[in-house]
Amino acid sequence: MKLIVTGGNGFIGSEICRQAISRGIRVVSISRRGAPKRREPWMEDVLWFKADIFDTHAWKGVLEKGDQVVHTVGILLEKRKKKLTYDRMNGESVITVAHTAAKAGISTFAMISASDAPPFIKGYIQAKRKAEEYLKNQPFRSMIFRPGFVYGPGRKGTAFIAALTRFGLRIPLAGKMLGAYAPVHVSHLAAAVLESLEKPEIQGILDINAIRRTAQTVSGREDHT
Ligand SMILES: NC(=O)c1ccc[n+]([C@@H]2O[C@H](COP(=O)([O-])OP(=O)(O)OC[C@H]3O[C@@H](n4cnc5c(N)ncnc54)[C@H](OP(=O)(O)O)[C@@H]3O)[C@@H](O)[C@H]2O)c1
Repeated sequence: MKLIVTGGNGFIGSEICRQAISRGIRVVSISRRGAPKRREPWMEDVLWFKADIFDTHAWKGVLEKGDQVVHTVGILLEKRKKKLTYDRMNGESVITVAHTAAKAGISTFAMISASDAPPFIKGYIQAKRKAEEYLKNQPFRSMIFRPGFVYGPGRKGTAFIAALTRFGLRIPLAGKMLGAYAPVHVSHLAAAVLESLEKPEIQGILDINAIRRTAQTVSGREDHT
C-alpha cells in the first residue's frame, strides 16, 4: 500500500508528501513537472512521477489495489486561453483521477476542496462541489477537505494575509463575511489529511473546524509546525 499525491510538488501537496514521508509512508507524486525546484532531504524518498493528470494512460500503471490517493490539483484563477478553466481543473481533474483510481481498486480518496470562494469566482466553488458530489457514489472511502485560506512558509505573503484575516475575524460584521476564509496552516491541513487516511472512521466532509480538530489529535505526536 502506498500514497499517491496528485500535485505533490505544489504548496499543499508538498507538505502532505513531507509529512507522509516522516510517517514512513511510501509516496508517489504525480504532476507535470516532477520534483519541486527547491531541494530538501525528504524529497529523495518520494517517487516524482511526471505526467499530466488528464493523460490517464501515462500514470494509471502507478496505481495498485489498496492504495490511497490525495488529489490536490486545482486552480484559483482561470486561464481560459490555455483551457485552464474551473470546470476542467477543479471539477474534471477530480472526476478523472477518482474514476481511474476506482477502477484500480484503491481504498481511500481525499480531495482538497475549499470552504467557499468570493462571488466573482463562483465557478471555482461550483466546480469543486460538482466533484464532491461525484465522490459520494464511489466504491472507496472518501474525505473532502474544505479549508479556508491556507498559509505557510511555502507560499510567500500568506502569513501576512492570514494575520490580516484573523484580525478581520474579530470585527463583528467583517468576521461574519470572512468566516469561510478562516486561515488554516498548511502543516495542520496536511496533518489532518494524513490522520484521516489512517482512521477508517473518518469520511465525508471536513470543514475548517473539523480540519483543526483532526490536526490537533496529531499535535504532540507529529512534527506539523
Ligand atoms: N492555497 C489555498 O489557500 C487553498 C485554499 C483552499 C483550497 N485550496 C485547494 O487546494 C489545492 C492545492 O492548492 P495549492 O495552493 O497547493 O496549489 P498549487 O501550489 O498550485 O499546486 C497545484 C499542483 O497541481 C499540479 N498540476 C496542475 N495541473 C496539473 C495537471 N494538468 N496534471 C498534473 N498536475 C497538475 C501542479 O504541478 P505541475 O505544475 O508540476 O503539474 C501543482 O504542483 C487546490 O485544489 C486548491 O483549490 C487551496
